Amino acid sequence: MSRQDEIPDKTLEQWALDYLSASTLAARRVIDPAPEAVEREPVARPEVRPTRPAPLRVVDRAERVASHPEALRSKEKRAALLHSFAHHELQAAELFLWAIVAWPEAPQPFRRGLAKIATDEVRHLDMYLSRVEALGFAWGDWEVRDWFWQRLASAKSPAHFVATMGLGFEGANLDHGARFAALLEQAGDRESADAVRVVSDEERSHVAFAARWFERFTGTLDAAVWRAHLVEPLSPLVMRGPTMDRASRERASMPREIVDAIEAYDPKADATRAKR
Ligand SMILES: [Fe+2]
Ligand SMILES: [Fe+2]
Repeated sequence: MSRQDEIPDKTLEQWALDYLSASTLAARRVIDPAPEAVEREPVARPEVRPTRPAPLRVVDRAERVASHPEALRSKEKRAALLHSFAHHELQAAELFLWAIVAWPEAPQPFRRGLAKIATDEVRHLDMYLSRVEALGFAWGDWEVRDWFWQRLASAKSPAHFVATMGLGFEGANLDHGARFAALLEQAGDRESADAVRVVSDEERSHVAFAARWFERFTGTLDAAVWRAHLVEPLSPLVMRGPTMDRASRERASMPREIVDAIEAYDPKADATRAKR
């Protein structure tokens, strides 16, 4: 055996944990390709949480980011909006990596898919941060809230994870994407609008991944079964934009029955579930 053979390859799990535990923000903007090797003895690590290196400041309630056309004429307001998008991408990247270490016994093709999506999310993060910087601001200039972590980290299974993350939040992002791209374009910021469009286009494959695996895990794409897999206390209310982009959702292979259920959802008729 050569010396080379004795050095254990980095595993998929270690790769995920390295990103989650990075001690600098710079290390969060890039990620190496996922290694092939996996841990021989699977260890479930659902308790893992990401580091938040300075100057990132996490608060329980972040100030609401303005997004109306008037506000977006200001460079600072646009940068604040893109900074909040960047934080969504950061949390998405981390949560897909978390799912890899939380459920080591999940099918390997599913875990490979999580790794591929995580690398997309890191690229989205870097794209948005590049726009924030082009506008004259920096990562950490605004406080952030770990809203997605607060919700997703209690997902009980891969089925709950894809129901909530992919079919829920990433699906909603398809509604928001076209709207924000139009608003940024209207504000004269073509580059930022393009960044939002590129991200939205790529998000469709993430939604399709979730639909495919939800069906594999549960044997159905039934809307009631999907609802039953949303992480508590979430409802479909937070899984749609002010208007639904049905065409984009359809292109993402989102099951029509679930899209209909999201559109028809009436919080008043569903007072038993919390709003957010
Ligand atoms: Fe993304
Ligand atoms: Fe995504």
